[in-house]
Amino acid sequence: MTSALSCCGCLGLFFIAYKFIHDIVPWLYMNIIGPKFLGPKVDVRCMGGWAVITGATDGIGKAYAKALAKKGFNLVLISRSLSKLEAVANEFTESFSVEVKIIDIDFTDNVEIYDKIKKGIAGLDIGVLVNNVGISYPHPEYFIDRYEQDPKFLVDIVAANINSLTHMTALILPTMVNRKKGVIINVSSTAGVIPSPLVTLYSSSKAFVDKFSSDIQSEYRSKGIIVQCVQPGLVATKMSKIRRTSFLIPSPDTYVAASLGMLGYCVQTAAYWPHSVQQSLAKLAIDLICEPFIASLFLKQLLNIRKRALRSSQQNK
Ligand SMILES: NC(=O)c1ccc[n+]([C@@H]2O[C@H](COP(=O)([O-])OP(=O)(O)OC[C@H]3O[C@@H](n4cnc5c(N)ncnc54)[C@H](OP(=O)(O)O)[C@@H]3O)[C@@H](O)[C@H]2O)c1
Repeated sequence: MTSALSCCGCLGLFFIAYKFIHDIVPWLYMNIIGPKFLGPKVDVRCMGGWAVITGATDGIGKAYAKALAKKGFNLVLISRSLSKLEAVANEFTESFSVEVKIIDIDFTDNVEIYDKIKKGIAGLDIGVLVNNVGISYPHPEYFIDRYEQDPKFLVDIVAANINSLTHMTALILPTMVNRKKGVIINVSSTAGVIPSPLVTLYSSSKAFVDKFSSDIQSEYRSKGIIVQCVQPGLVATKMSKIRRTSFLIPSPDTYVAASLGMLGYCVQTAAYWPHSVQQSLAKLAIDLICEPFIASLFLKQLLNIRKRALRSSQQNK
């Protein structure tokens, strides 16, 4: 009995030591020690004169545009609404004395939009591409119900979350490869890496962003290209419908500062360290318990959010 207990104790200690060396030490280096004490591994300013940002008039995209303008980049802002683009362009031209080009397109329109983008960015020395644009569910919903409410949604979410990323990369990567330098930041989501029922199409599109990023990085690392795929948890933006920031829900500016501070440390990252802890805990729970059980807990939580959203839309009718 005693020897069985001490055997279990040894195994437990071995497991903790293994986790510490295998997971926790690299996690601490990539999330806290490296970015905070050693700084970014990549000097983004050496990459070129222009930064292109999709979904640039609000939230996380606007924060990337602002942070890159502060670093001296001229900007190409791509979004849907012309008046918002003009307002943001004026704001940044005045505040940061940089050149700003705007391209108004809707990423859910057909592929001809990429001809307009190609013309708009021709000849520019692009050092940074931020594939940020994305759309999500109005509220968590069963797949069939979402489809019946809005059949076009299936096409739109793939166009905005997946096609935009692949087409923009195809347009800009060749010139980066020719110049042997460039940074591509792809905005995924924690939803892409943990169970996310009731937003299935959104989370799956974000899993695509993740996989695309890691494989394209392997293909082009030796050509001087750096890819970062960020997987935010909740950030206070229009999409999350959260206004008030907190320790777990940063502002877009705080989130983007964390992302740029971690450039070059790893391809996939939650970037903001409290999000990284949340994500690691969810993954640990899946490892230690089992995925279907954890997924059922998430389903319960998302069903509650769905119920509240349906109730409030009934009341607003
Ligand atoms: N906020 C979060 O909690 C969170 C969490 C994880 C991941 N993310 C990801 O972060 C990215 C940015 O999200 P956000 O929260 O910053 O969103 P947001 O505040 O709603 O901003 C979205 C931006 O994208 C533009 N946009 C939306 N649909 C478009 C379309 N069809 N064509 C062209 N432009 C379009 C909007 O421009 P207009 O206003 O002109 O339409 C706006 O500039 C998304 O990929 C999202 O999935 C966000």
